[in-house]
Amino acid sequence: MSSVEDRRFDYDYDGIQEYDNPLPRWWVYLFIGTIIAAVVYIPYFHFGPGQLPTAAWQADMDEWNRLHPPVPLPDEAELAALAQQSGMPERGRQVFATRCVSCHAIDGGGQVGPNLTDDYAIHGWSRELITRVVNDGVPSKGMIPWGPQLSREDVVAVALHAYALRGTTPLSPKAPQGDPIGGPKPEADATGAH
Ligand code: HEC
Repeated sequence: MSSVEDRRFDYDYDGIQEYDNPLPRWWVYLFIGTIIAAVVYIPYFHFGPGQLPTAAWQADMDEWNRLHPPVPLPDEAELAALAQQSGMPERGRQVFATRCVSCHAIDGGGQVGPNLTDDYAIHGWSRELITRVVNDGVPSKGMIPWGPQLSREDVVAVALHAYALRGTTPLSPKAPQGDPIGGPKPEADATGAH
């Protein structure tokens, strides 16, 4: 091991001397390695056939979406049939009780969210329209899109429950919002929100 004296450069600028303190070998090799990697990486990924991470992610997503096209929501007739399925009312009630009560109240009378029991609706009143608004939400107005969070079955069940709430009498109804719903009140149906 050379002494500290030995490792001084033998020049002297106005009394200032420089100590020869080379970087460790492994560090230098790593540094050279990054230069070599960059020479390969930049032309290949930025100008050549390689895909940058965001492009690769997008390609993966496109492929995934191609293989899994969104399943369309059931239409009015399908929903009417689903409403008759056994267990549907109970399931809808349960999902409503855990996911919706904070904004619509347990009996649908409304709090932050609109009253679901009256003869007014902002987004229309049919099984199909309600299923769509539950699935897609109205994020700008505070209604959560439930499609990405709940199974399709739960979305349908809870939408049918919300649909069936119209015409029931809540404890403290919120003032009507939206437009009057044309047509008669619903018959009591198998979603059984009565
Ligand atoms: C964080 C609060 C919040 C939660 C939780 C919530 N909602 Fe809403 N909901 C709203 C708001 C606010 C609106 C009004 C949106 C608007 O003004 O366009 C709304 C609107 C609706 C509408 C349309 C009403 C109309 O008048 O057209 C339905 C149906 C509905 N919600 C059902 C549900 C169901 C079912 C759930 C549970 C799965 C749920 N909501 C959970 C806040 C909420």
